[in-house]
Amino acid sequence: MSVHSPSEAQETARRLYDMAGILLPAAIRAAATLCVADRIAEGTTSAADLAVRVRADPDGLTLLLRYLASAGLFHRSDHDRYTLTALGDALRSDSPVSVRALLDSDGVLGRSDLGTVNVLHTVRTGRACHESVFGTDFWSDVQHDPAYAASFDTFLGNGVGWDAGIVIDSYPWDTVGHVTDVGGGGGSLLIELLHAHPHLRGRVVDLPNSVDLARARLVRAGLDGRGEAVVGSFFDRVPGGSDVYLLSAVLADWTDERAVRILRTVAGAAGPKARVLLAEVTMPRSGADSHDTASTANDLYVAATVTVPARTDRQLIAIAEAAGLRLSRRGPGSAVRSLLEFTVAR
Ligand SMILES: C[S@@+](CC[C@H](N)C(=O)[O-])C[C@H]1O[C@@H](n2cnc3c(N)ncnc32)[C@H](O)[C@@H]1O
Repeated sequence: MSVHSPSEAQETARRLYDMAGILLPAAIRAAATLCVADRIAEGTTSAADLAVRVRADPDGLTLLLRYLASAGLFHRSDHDRYTLTALGDALRSDSPVSVRALLDSDGVLGRSDLGTVNVLHTVRTGRACHESVFGTDFWSDVQHDPAYAASFDTFLGNGVGWDAGIVIDSYPWDTVGHVTDVGGGGGSLLIELLHAHPHLRGRVVDLPNSVDLARARLVRAGLDGRGEAVVGSFFDRVPGGSDVYLLSAVLADWTDERAVRILRTVAGAAGPKARVLLAEVTMPRSGADSHDTASTANDLYVAATVTVPARTDRQLIAIAEAAGLRLSRRGPGSAVRSLLEFTVAR
């Protein structure tokens, strides 16, 4: 340890204290959630008028605006009137470099970020934070929020990730007539599958907000004749009648016990004839050699937000077997995606 003068030591301690501050991030996120920058850009500049437009307490909003002006997001003029600085401009929804939706506390990522305030929970227990902060699991929580569907749309876009090409191209879909994408979200993967395999029909089963989104997307893609989206919880019941029940990037959000429950429900829908296709993702860690802030932060963030970020094939097979399934086909996989097919054990 190097020797510091008392004033240097004090300065260092202050720097550390500032680093640990949570008010500024929380205040920026409050402004993002309330769309304050959008209203300012539209010409509402006084704190009192802004409070009316964003439905906030006038005094509370005034304090927020003054604080964020001091932090460089707004220019503040006399009588608490505000305009956007270059920094604040990035909080406009329609800025080409907008970060508003990312920071929206009612949105998918913003909500997930808020859970990390209790990263102590992850450190103590090894478990993700969300339930410890909000009292309910991430997906049930966000499903109750009407802003969620829109934010889901923004973040998932129309694409599929995590080497999903393996699922689309490397499985013998020519042997499948109908697929159910269980927890299929906004329908992106089903849409890609239906485009790639014109004989295929399918359905998404998910919670209501995701289903609304998937329905709208199927219509936009001109695939509503071959694809549908139905509301259902994989803890209760999944409709029967498909040849394949696909679960893509679903089990990572659940403990082993709940993952077994999900697969039991799916096995019940599959019956003796259908196949259950697990296309799970593994979120890789940057590893012990990594020292930079971005990758070490990412490792901690994933641990704090995803229930089981990485399961080996062996662990997935054990969970499936506990749910009464038997491995019938394996792979191909990639570094981040596995492909395991099961049938109901007799
Ligand atoms: C990580 S996303 C995966 C989405 C999609 N399968 C993919 O590969 O991108 C998990 C999905 O599970 C859905 N989900 C969560 N709880 C559910 C439940 N109880 N029943 C059905 N779907 C659920 C979520 O709404 C979300 O769409």
